[in-house]
Amino acid sequence: MIKEIREARRSAGWSQKALAGRIGVDAQAIKRLENGVGSVPNLLAVMAELNFCLTGLGPGKTLPEQLRARRQKRDLSVNAIASRTSLSRATIASLERGGGSVASLLRLLAVLAPRARRRAPERSYWGQVDRENRDSRFTPTDFLANIYAAFGEIDVDPCGSVLSPVIAHRRILLSEGGDGLVDDWAGRVAFVNPPYSELIKWLRRAHDQWRAGKVETVVCLVPVRTDSAWFHDTLSADADIYLLQGRVKFLDPGGKSQHTPFSLMVLGLGVTVEQKARYAELVPGYWLARRAGTKHAVQAN
Ligand SMILES: C[S@@+](CC[C@H](N)C(=O)[O-])C[C@H]1O[C@@H](n2cnc3c(N)ncnc32)[C@H](O)[C@@H]1O
Repeated sequence: MIKEIREARRSAGWSQKALAGRIGVDAQAIKRLENGVGSVPNLLAVMAELNFCLTGLGPGKTLPEQLRARRQKRDLSVNAIASRTSLSRATIASLERGGGSVASLLRLLAVLAPRARRRAPERSYWGQVDRENRDSRFTPTDFLANIYAAFGEIDVDPCGSVLSPVIAHRRILLSEGGDGLVDDWAGRVAFVNPPYSELIKWLRRAHDQWRAGKVETVVCLVPVRTDSAWFHDTLSADADIYLLQGRVKFLDPGGKSQHTPFSLMVLGLGVTVEQKARYAELVPGYWLARRAGTKHAVQAN
């Protein structure tokens, strides 16, 4: 589990320091956690930030709930599991309430659910193709025409491709040594149809660049995937979401139209009321109302 947490952090593109900053601890705490040392509350904060869940335990929204459900499913009393793990009853009770140490948690997991594993991160499914192929789906020209008409000229495509029809003043191209996850997205409007195999990483990048004021408006074309805690806790407070009616037919590297086996949405950051209205006139679908109670709800609607 600990090794998988390190992998999840790396695949989110964060250093130990960056992750530490996000959950308000020092980098040493993350380093220690990745060596199996530290507190369960810190571990739970890291798991939430990485959208990291375990399967092979019992049902539950949190790891402590899952631990308790698993023990009960196996019909084990606190006493029984305490003696099997050589942990005290107080330690078991504390772990089931989200306290205790990572070392105790690992010992409990080894006995209670030795096959518990990371739940595979959800991804939209293009079919049985390799990742390179799966991520090389280009935005079709007719779809782009409505983007230009509603949001204006595109200044930057941070995940561009020489094969893509996107017209942008600047494209960040991997093939030319660029990296949209590192380079600044400077400009007024960014259009982002990212590699969906790394969707959250790109949405986080979009949000970070927009919040940092590098780019005024970000328009993303992404699958309707709203399951992560980060989406609900952070992104949804700032994003305007347009649910598209019908499917977008992307272009493959040969320029052929591809069926897309999932629904898509346009996710905007910093879009104006006028831009939203214009887009809705042009494209079938509708803008979701911002969630009541989010910090920018009044300003956005
Ligand atoms: C789904 S395609 C979209 C291309 C184009 N933005 C469009 O809308 O047609 C995603 C592209 O992102 C590129 N890409 C992947 N990782 C990248 C990175 N770190 N920086 C810049 N581009 C990247 C891939 O090469 C791929 O061509």
